[in-house]
Amino acid sequence: MYKAKAYSAAAATSPLASSTITRRDPTEHDVQIDILFCGICHSDLHQVRNEWSEVMPTVYPCVPGHEIVGRVTRVGSAVTRFKPGDLAAVGCMVDSDRTCPECRAGLEQFCANMTLTYNFPDKHLGGVTYGGYSDSVVVDQRFTLRVPDNLDLAGTAPLLCAGITTYSPMRHWGVTTGKKVGVVGLGGLGHMAVKFAHALGAQVVVFTTSPNKKDDALRLGADEVVISRNSNEMQKHTGSFNFILDAVSADHDINAYIQLLARDGNLTLVGAPEKPLAVSAFNLILGRRSLSGSPIGGIAETQEMLDFCGAHNLTADVEVIPIQKVNEAYGRLLKADVKYRFSIDMASLKSE
Ligand SMILES: NC(=O)c1ccc[n+]([C@@H]2O[C@H](COP(=O)([O-])OP(=O)(O)OC[C@H]3O[C@@H](n4cnc5c(N)ncnc54)[C@H](OP(=O)(O)O)[C@@H]3O)[C@@H](O)[C@H]2O)c1
Ligand SMILES: [Zn+2]
Ligand SMILES: [Zn+2]
Repeated sequence: MYKAKAYSAAAATSPLASSTITRRDPTEHDVQIDILFCGICHSDLHQVRNEWSEVMPTVYPCVPGHEIVGRVTRVGSAVTRFKPGDLAAVGCMVDSDRTCPECRAGLEQFCANMTLTYNFPDKHLGGVTYGGYSDSVVVDQRFTLRVPDNLDLAGTAPLLCAGITTYSPMRHWGVTTGKKVGVVGLGGLGHMAVKFAHALGAQVVVFTTSPNKKDDALRLGADEVVISRNSNEMQKHTGSFNFILDAVSADHDINAYIQLLARDGNLTLVGAPEKPLAVSAFNLILGRRSLSGSPIGGIAETQEMLDFCGAHNLTADVEVIPIQKVNEAYGRLLKADVKYRFSIDMASLKSE
């Protein structure tokens, strides 16, 4: 075992602060990674503040972070896929049982014995796993991803959650040329959804509560931007979408979006607000529309997404911050004031 630097929250109401944690030394299948950048996902904020207490209560101290990019420093004796000096990335999962039908289908995100990157029982050390707001991490090579070498690293980190979480449902629901796709909420996930839907050839409409994001949405690949608080603008799109991805982090009216779906259209929730959302049965019945959710993506699909980003030279638009500004960044996330993902430069932690 060794000591690593990290930022952790001691309680739901405490700010994140500098601390020291214990990591395992790499076992034979493990890779140790010196973390260069870690994205700030709104899930980190939900989890740190224990907003998902009914589904996954937070264990303190909590070290969040599941959008990790870094360089390999040590590998175990059985590691074949990485060597010291390689770039590597880690997303929301660090382990699973690898034997169940979900794992065998490459859908580790549905494995009943999957281990999330933070706030999940740690099979090696006991306690809970600690995430990427840290100077290093140790992960099994099977849950470590390869980073295309043409991509900007600060903008690559957010692909590990915001990227895969939006890419996966779009692939599942057949987003392609000729489809009309809506993206609700232009934050970290939403802006990646716009980039992917555009790259996949769809007609993309962004729904935002922030009029000042309109020009950015068009630049990111939207064909049209609707200010969602304007019901006249919303109604023009009634019954027209094949697919809508809802990436909103707070309470909002999803019926306003369900009625924009065409026959057999689907609205997938990736946003995970604290409180349940009300659904109008008739909005689903009339039009045989469906409402579903989607969690992250499997390891093979995460690698596919990274390779897709490499081929299309696509990364997140980031504001790079030192870790000392993490609490300020959380405050700005709550005001929907981020363009469009914070990426922590972990050099700032090493110099502490
Ligand atoms: N399913 C999964 O596997 C998964 C993975 C990662 C994250 N998530 C969840 O996805 C959600 C989004 O995460 P994120 O990191 O993209 O968050 P984010 O960067 O904070 O973006 C959320 C966006 O939602 C919109 N919004 C915020 N408050 C709103 C309100 N009261 N009414 C309407 N719109 C509002 C804003 O967009 P506009 O300014 O454009 O309106 C905001 O930028 C979070 O709940 C997160 O936990 C789920
Ligand atoms: Zn996330
Ligand atoms: Zn499994």
